[in-house]
Amino acid sequence: MSEFSNVGKELLVDQYEEHKEAAQTHLENGREHEAAKSYLKAAEASESIAEYEQDEVLQQKRLDLSRKMRRAASDLVENPGGDEDVPGSVETQTTGVQGSEGLEFDKPVPGKSFEDLAGMTGLKDTFHRKIIQPLEHPEIYKSLDIGVVNGFILYGPPGTGKTHSAECLAGELGFNFFTAGSAELTSSLVGETPELIHQLFSEAISAQPSLVFVDELDDVVPDRGDAANSSHGYVQSVNQFLKELTRIQDEDVIFLGATNRIGSVDEAVKGSHRVQELIEVPLPDAEARKELFQHFLNRRSIASTVDLERLVEASQGFSAADIETVCMEAARHAADRALEQGIEVEEVEVTKTDLEKVLSCQ
Ligand SMILES: Nc1ncnc2c1ncn2[C@@H]1O[C@H](COP(=O)(O)OP(=O)(O)OP(=O)(O)O)[C@@H](O)[C@H]1O
Ligand SMILES: [Mg+2]
Repeated sequence: MSEFSNVGKELLVDQYEEHKEAAQTHLENGREHEAAKSYLKAAEASESIAEYEQDEVLQQKRLDLSRKMRRAASDLVENPGGDEDVPGSVETQTTGVQGSEGLEFDKPVPGKSFEDLAGMTGLKDTFHRKIIQPLEHPEIYKSLDIGVVNGFILYGPPGTGKTHSAECLAGELGFNFFTAGSAELTSSLVGETPELIHQLFSEAISAQPSLVFVDELDDVVPDRGDAANSSHGYVQSVNQFLKELTRIQDEDVIFLGATNRIGSVDEAVKGSHRVQELIEVPLPDAEARKELFQHFLNRRSIASTVDLERLVEASQGFSAADIETVCMEAARHAADRALEQGIEVEEVEVTKTDLEKVLSCQ
């Protein structure tokens, strides 16, 4: 190892000590969020030092220290106020972060998978080719100098399954799921939105592998070209967002944004090479509607007279969420009828009339 490398290591050790001390000082003064940030910086420094260590045992010690710092940061943001009994490992717990207004950003790994995602074959295929296969066969992708795509924006009308597909992807991958929208991330206080964005990504990094889902992207990072959004606050938020997208490049963190108004999302975010795919999630076509009806009806008792093709025809322009509602409401009609007429549980079923009644009211 060269002399320069040792100088680099010494600097990092100094940085590590400084951040660790800063964290302790912040803690003593009750500034938990600041302390968490310093712990994260100390963790990063410790990881960088590990790269310099030739000795495997020392390297492991540095990595253990880093993990400890990340856990401390995670515990602090999750449990402000300092309960001593904070559960330990980020690997085994539901991670969380509180924004300064006490808002939760996260959910644990969602109990969903691609089996819960009807239709959307194109999107599932993209996720398979760009995320799942590179994760499952890293050697092939590495030899071809390609990797996991970790930046996507999904856009399309309400109820088409953008949020649902993000949850299914996180569940399929077994990744922790961090989600926030405009309510959690935007604040009228100057400087607070960038800070909240930073916290969200920091927490996702410390609990990786994780998926960060940012909803209502048009509100969180609105188009700065629009005169109404050209204030300094928005510029800061967009810049912070771009920084975070860069920060997750070498981490096991996938970013998925969603919006109903892709035209109103900041150009720099949309055009960033960190967001490798803009994917339209349109209203379902006939084939997708058929799969959606099958998906929502299969788990219910259905009369043999129900004609799927007619349902598909009668539901043109419906979103996935609309189709889910139709099936649920039709099932309620069946339940009402069963109770009114004293029908036995084995005999209860959703009929063609139940479904058509609901469809005609939509
Ligand atoms: N492809 C799908 N397969 C099964 N269920 C779906 C599918 N798409 C949507 N759903 C159901 O519809 C509900 C609403 O979908 P979701 O919230 O994902 O829509 P969205 O595109 O995020 O809407 P918005 O733009 O309003 O946020 C989901 O909770 C889920 O139950
Ligand atoms: Mg949504």
